Amino acid sequence: MDQITEILQQALSELRSTDTLDALKELRVRVLGKKGSISTLMKGMGKLAPEERPVFGQKVNEARTAFETEFEAKKNELENAIKEAKLASEKIDVTLPTGAVEKGVLHPLTQVYREVRDVCMKLGFNVVEGPEMELDKFNFELLNIPKEHPARDMQDTFYINPEIVLRTHTSPVQARTMLTNKPPIRVICPGKVYRQDDVDATHSPVFRQIEGLVIDKGVTFADLRAMIDTILKALYGEDTQTRFRPGFFPFTEPSAEVDATCSLCKGKGCPACKGAGMIEVLGCGMVNPRVLEMCGLDPEVYSGYAFGLGLDRLSNIKYGVTDIRLNYENDVRFLRQFR
Ligand code: PHE
Repeated sequence: MDQITEILQQALSELRSTDTLDALKELRVRVLGKKGSISTLMKGMGKLAPEERPVFGQKVNEARTAFETEFEAKKNELENAIKEAKLASEKIDVTLPTGAVEKGVLHPLTQVYREVRDVCMKLGFNVVEGPEMELDKFNFELLNIPKEHPARDMQDTFYINPEIVLRTHTSPVQARTMLTNKPPIRVICPGKVYRQDDVDATHSPVFRQIEGLVIDKGVTFADLRAMIDTILKALYGEDTQTRFRPGFFPFTEPSAEVDATCSLCKGKGCPACKGAGMIEVLGCGMVNPRVLEMCGLDPEVYSGYAFGLGLDRLSNIKYGVTDIRLNYENDVRFLRQFR
């Protein structure tokens, strides 16, 4: 019996002076392992008188439990100490200033879009959007683009099926807007458009347009001219001049193509404007009475104008970018320049 107490005291005093997990585990083996000091005690039990055995066995078990209890406590204590030390050594000061982090910039197309949008919104325009997968009806039919028109050629248009296309321009939103709104209508519609073009410096199968549409009583071509001038001056500077040339679009009559003073050479002539000093920036016109009619508006009562800006074109001219592909490659060396 004394031996049990002695062995337990010995084991506990060793336990208390242990200060690493490894040493602790090793001690456990020496005490409780198969050949450990407490286990060995049990082996001596055979030499005892039978009536002494239960008392002895109980005493050994108590010793084992006492050791295990202190062992667990010590183990927790050491593990906590390790955790604390780790936390202390990994502590970071989140208030320290970091090294220089490069700020992102808005994509040039986004910047130019926002400039145009802001001018238009100040003049009372709303922004509306339409689907990129569009019904033939809106993309062509209601815009007075008959079945045999070259713009419907399989070469230009991505057909999903005979009735559904990837919109080739933002003009279908004109039809959608007229069919669902009563005049006065004053909207712009930004978005992606798709054409089956091979990629080169001036063509991309996806590019961006901003459509404008105004319908009211008594809207004239003079209103259209003023609006276009306002947008282009805001974008390229007050000294920008515009030139309206006769053009053709099935959904506007009369139609015009508009050139603006080349913002790079200020009209002197440079490679960007091919020496002309002016550069084509958009198509526009008075909404064709047939289109008004098809979209449920009485052309005897209402008139309106529409315009379609090529956002890539506007942006590239503004910044002297000569390759449309740069707008879609997301090369940071390019994007970084638009701070
Ligand atoms: N939708 C025409 C195009 O993509 C542009 C346009 C819009 C012309 C509105 C006139 C009026 O080429």
